[in-house]
Amino acid sequence: MAPMPTSVAEAVAMAGYHVAPGVGAALKQFVLPEKLGFGLVAAPLMFSAEWSDGNWGRGELLPYGPIEILPGARALQYAELVFEGLKAYKVGEAGPNLFRPRENWQRLARSAQRLSMPAVSESVFFQAIEVMVGACHRLIPRESGRSLYLRPFLFGTEAGYLLRNSTTFRFMVIANPVEIYSSGPMRVAIERDDVRAAVGGVGTAKASANYAASLRASNAAVARGLTVALWLDAREQRFIQELSGMNLFAVIGGELHTPALDGAILPGITRDSLITLAQHLGFKVHERPLAIDDLLAQIVSGECTEVFACGTAAILSPIGLLTDRDRREYVPVQIDSAAAQLREALLAIQERRAPDPFGWTRDVAPLTL
Ligand SMILES: Cc1ncc(COP(=O)(O)O)c(C=O)c1O
Repeated sequence: MAPMPTSVAEAVAMAGYHVAPGVGAALKQFVLPEKLGFGLVAAPLMFSAEWSDGNWGRGELLPYGPIEILPGARALQYAELVFEGLKAYKVGEAGPNLFRPRENWQRLARSAQRLSMPAVSESVFFQAIEVMVGACHRLIPRESGRSLYLRPFLFGTEAGYLLRNSTTFRFMVIANPVEIYSSGPMRVAIERDDVRAAVGGVGTAKASANYAASLRASNAAVARGLTVALWLDAREQRFIQELSGMNLFAVIGGELHTPALDGAILPGITRDSLITLAQHLGFKVHERPLAIDDLLAQIVSGECTEVFACGTAAILSPIGLLTDRDRREYVPVQIDSAAAQLREALLAIQERRAPDPFGWTRDVAPLTL
């Protein structure tokens, strides 16, 4: 039989990761502010593990703070960086729970594979997020709509300009207590010039490079008083892909339509969950190529009644207006009808306020450090 740990420090050592000095003090000193925003407030801890010689080393839980990286590291020079985003909730129950974390682990592995980076093993990934959630459990907000957002990321740390992968990597998890990312119905700019991701590129990976490609259009949208850019396919600029950080759904003739995964769209976990949940609630759901000009015509004719976006950060966010290059505005007749119903159904499962018929949520044990 394995020996029983006699102290917290020993238990932690047996669990296979280090706890750096200052972790307990950082947790104790942390005060949860009233205003959280999205990513404004950093949790006081972070987890880090390094990969070299083909193996993951022992992970470490540290106080949140600056990290050292060589200026020539390929993560900085060549965007050798992939990441994830998921939330831990503590609304309906005493202990924290995660929503579909396995899907995030699998997507991180696919993203790493696309960039020829080593996969983060399932055990390293789950150790990191469970240690972070367990250690930070006291600062997970209890109010509906609030949660602890986790940002796992993997990056190449070897310096050098040769166009090949690093031989050393680092996997980290940082976290932020957050409110739902939302500023009311979104005002969407249809992007007809820049392209975010092409089939064969890295769009299906959650790779930083995709977000860099979207920044110019996002800035231009904000400068026009809009919220976000809507991306079209790279080949014909005809079919809807997604927003810069969310997938898109439209209600057409009372049924849900979402762009089929085309080899460039990020396969959102919220998107996938909504397809299942909406069908469960009796909606008909279509995954198909959605031509932007057809959708705009259907908004004008009233056949398309509602458009909304979805993702981990915002859950579901209604789209109040789409506008084109010629500044013509398209306003769906309903702003938050099916979206509100689906958002509440999904959030209630995530927050454990409703039964979870799909087995999507996973308990995390609180840790005392
Ligand atoms: C480009 C992009 N599309 C879609 C999504 C939605 O994905 P998920 O529902 O897994 O958060 C995100 C956010 O993670 C994203 O960054």
